[in-house]
Amino acid sequence: MQNHKKAIQVLGINGSPRQNGNSRYLMSCFMEEMKTLGHDTQVLDAVKLKINSCIGCSNCETKGVCIFKDDFTNIFLPAVIKADILVISSPIYFYAFPAALKALIDRIQVLWSRKYRLKMDDFKDRKRKGVLLAVGATRGKDLFDGLKLTARYFFDAADIQYKADLCYRGIDEKGEMEKHPTIHEDITNLVQTLVS
Ligand SMILES: Cc1cc2nc3c(=O)[nH]c(=O)nc-3n(C[C@H](O)[C@H](O)[C@H](O)COP(=O)(O)O)c2cc1C
Repeated sequence: MQNHKKAIQVLGINGSPRQNGNSRYLMSCFMEEMKTLGHDTQVLDAVKLKINSCIGCSNCETKGVCIFKDDFTNIFLPAVIKADILVISSPIYFYAFPAALKALIDRIQVLWSRKYRLKMDDFKDRKRKGVLLAVGATRGKDLFDGLKLTARYFFDAADIQYKADLCYRGIDEKGEMEKHPTIHEDITNLVQTLVS
């Protein structure tokens, strides 16, 4: 029997520069679950995109477009606009996102400007959802505060509702996430709440 339900577009942004590391593993579990349910998935690795850093020139605040034409404009931004669900997976680097991912988020200023300065309604009544998957080596109470705040305001600029996060402390060496006792159950439950 054919499934006539429209596939959800799921975009993953991986912030870790480490190949096959813990964040990448979290992302692959999440996307496998989405694929099993028949949804369309795409993952972008922040470090593979060649982009300029935001220079705060204010062009986007007056004209609604960025002065740079690069992988942000050609690859990242169209993917963010198309997504129904956006998932970030990332390690903590000095209590923040790694630089390549933060550079992409800074360039999202173009969407912030269009929304808040130019009062454009790019996403109309689309209900977009955002999720953060994160890992860090230490165990402090505030470990993920920086990532959560940055993700919240990135999502807000792109008219994405911050739905949930899964943050794992004490994860450092490659392969440690695979051994986590509740990872699969956590991801299955998260995906269920997102698609239901
Ligand atoms: C440059 C750098 C900075 C880091 N800063 C922190 C930190 O501030 N707090 C922390 O708990 N772990 C920190 N870590 C550890 C990573 O978050 C941890 O190893 C994580 O599991 C790596 O995930 P990945 O395999 O997805 O890259 C840092 C690691 C690196 C390489």
